[in-house]
Amino acid sequence: MNPLQASLPAEPLQTLATWLDDAWECRHTPNANSMVLTTVAIQKGEILPSSRVLLCKHLDTENGYLVFYTNYHSRKGDELEHNRNAAVVFHWDNLGRQARVEGIVIASPTEESDNYFASRPRSSQISAWASAQSEPVASREALHRQLEQAERRFADTETIPRPPHWGGYRLWATAVELWVQGDNRLHDRARWIRTVAIDDNGQPHPHTWSATRLQP
Ligand SMILES: Cc1cc2nc3c(=O)[nH]c(=O)nc-3n(C[C@H](O)[C@H](O)[C@H](O)COP(=O)(O)O)c2cc1C
Repeated sequence: MNPLQASLPAEPLQTLATWLDDAWECRHTPNANSMVLTTVAIQKGEILPSSRVLLCKHLDTENGYLVFYTNYHSRKGDELEHNRNAAVVFHWDNLGRQARVEGIVIASPTEESDNYFASRPRSSQISAWASAQSEPVASREALHRQLEQAERRFADTETIPRPPHWGGYRLWATAVELWVQGDNRLHDRARWIRTVAIDDNGQPHPHTWSATRLQP
């Protein structure tokens, strides 16, 4: 395991990008880009976190955000609508590495979601129309009927449009923690924080990072 450099990098996302590349190159890591996303619902004054696995489809190291795709009407979509603060964690056990990212989630520009949707296999595009993600369904058969319905709907359509309820989110990082497994539990940890100001038009403006080494 390579520990973090003695002098911490000024920003953490380039290291995270390298770690993602390393994980992809490691044969034993299927879904090397999988991460656990935690969102928070607030109900009757109670703060209720919920987590699920997603795929990180892009990491923008220049501006400092990562991208995932999902159904905007899903449980996570609903929770993000009410509270845009969220956290993700990556864990690559075979590399002895963990990366935590906290930040502000903003829907991706529609053109970006359109382009990504267009790049997906036709079967995945139809599934995005067929499934009302996170809603109850009476049976597996009912779900298959929904799929068949969507298949019939688009049978004569060459280019399936993106459903308006499906698209990307950008998680603008306000904190990143990188963790490297060390001998005798003396793990290597460092945390970077920055402010991301959101202007009146909802546009994010990231400030510069500051880094701190943490005890394991
Ligand atoms: C390896 C893996 C990758 C997944 N990738 C995604 C994904 O990229 N987008 C997505 O919406 N759900 C993905 N899921 C399913 C989610 O974990 C989750 O079941 C779904 O998004 C509904 O979550 P929600 O009800 O909390 O909104 C993935 C699950 C696994 C196990």
